[in-house]
Amino acid sequence: FQKSIHFFTWFLCFPIWFLFYIVPQKYNEKYYKKDNLERYVNYYSKNNNLTSKEIVTNVNSNLDTTFYENYESTDTSKDTLMIVNKHYKIENNYKPGNLVTVLSEHGYPNKIRADVYEEFKKMYNAAKNDNVSIFIASPYRSYSDQNALYTYYVNTDGKKNADTYSARPGFSEHHTGLAMDLIPEYGLDLDTFENSDGFKWMQENAYKYGFILRYPKDKEYITGYIYEPWHYRYVGISAATTIKNEGLTFEEYYEYYVK
Ligand code: DAL
Ligand code: ZN
Repeated sequence: FQKSIHFFTWFLCFPIWFLFYIVPQKYNEKYYKKDNLERYVNYYSKNNNLTSKEIVTNVNSNLDTTFYENYESTDTSKDTLMIVNKHYKIENNYKPGNLVTVLSEHGYPNKIRADVYEEFKKMYNAAKNDNVSIFIASPYRSYSDQNALYTYYVNTDGKKNADTYSARPGFSEHHTGLAMDLIPEYGLDLDTFENSDGFKWMQENAYKYGFILRYPKDKEYITGYIYEPWHYRYVGISAATTIKNEGLTFEEYYEYYVK
């Protein structure tokens, strides 16, 4: 009798025990978001080989939905923290209000957001003081600029390959005016940047000026793009510092800290 009472009590308590012990244990992850609980459970049911950390990271990064299929309009009011990727589209006719032309000292004569350019100049001067040169190859790109670029890559390299390194028009971070591709100096190719002093310098210092390496190595499955050592994004010093210290992609940072 004692035993069955015990069992009965335990049984009654089980749902409560489950809710308050098992579930939080399973998702006792730093970036766990209560609003995503149902998605974590669904995603886990299809990916039960993954750790709870991976479940939380992947769902927070919207990997439970398909690139370019389940996308939403990005919230441009987030300003320097807005996200544009294969899950968040920017309006075709979006144009940053404060575009200026890059001076020949700093890069090719393309447009960039004025506030981002000011921060870039501080970074450029600090690098220059350390005898390091960086040069802006491609900052802001409009919908039609990106359309021309993406179409060129699709025609020469096929859509499947193009999608690994070029954004479809309306989905490029360059469209925000907050991103830039760097080269070591005038006339060099993007892929020379990784082996330059500028790249090493950026790895150590970019965050101090509010810039992040946007498409890091081994994060392709989250960002949707191959490693791009030349592509930097302005997010502000506070976000850049957190992203660096916590080893996050902007996708992870956005869902947890911004959205
Ligand atoms: N290369 C980056 C992903 C772009 O096309 O925006
Ligand atoms: Zn780029």
